[in-house]
Amino acid sequence: MTAESQQIAGSEFTNPNFEVLYNQEQIQARIQELGKRITREYAGKELVLVSVLKGSCIFLADLMRSIDLNLTIDFMAVSSYKDGTKSTGDVEILKDLSNPIRGKHVIVVEDIVDTGLTLSRLLEILDSRGAASIKLASFLDKPEPRIKTELQIDFTGFVIPNKFVVGYGLDAAGRYRNLPFIAVVKNPAEL
Ligand code: IMP
Ligand code: MG
Repeated sequence: MTAESQQIAGSEFTNPNFEVLYNQEQIQARIQELGKRITREYAGKELVLVSVLKGSCIFLADLMRSIDLNLTIDFMAVSSYKDGTKSTGDVEILKDLSNPIRGKHVIVVEDIVDTGLTLSRLLEILDSRGAASIKLASFLDKPEPRIKTELQIDFTGFVIPNKFVVGYGLDAAGRYRNLPFIAVVKNPAEL
């Protein structure tokens, strides 16, 4: 099939509007490195990975399988982006953790830190719950638009330019999370 006819057949993986930034192989290699670091740093500790839904679900799934420790996972959902591409700074908890984190070592797992407004607010909320430690793992770091410059990302997948990206969990209005790579959207108006 030609690229054109694949498009007609509905392939999103070959959509010419996507420019691949990191492919599956590069992503997996990087996550293995992060997993090894976390495995070393958290040996002997009670580790909980807190995934921020929905964007970080794919990163969580790969990251947790690269950490060779006894760990648990939990999920939170917060709203920051309401279907658009601008951060408001208002964070609403849509789903809270299922279990207490008191005394546990927590790594918050995010898809991307952009302005940092969502994460800062979320970390403030989690800080008051008596965890032994709280660190942050973000698959992507987009430092240019950062407002919360004091926010420290302890485990970063890739640092990316100030472009809107989709795939590997990240969405545009809920779509494209299933792309197995991270891509820049060349023309957002054509999505
Ligand atoms: P922040 O509050 O600006 O740091 O926004 C964080 C959230 O915005 C992320 O968890 C994503 O859901 C979303 N976001 C930021 N940049 C992008 C992007 O390039 N593509 C898709 N979602 C993004
Ligand atoms: Mg998100």
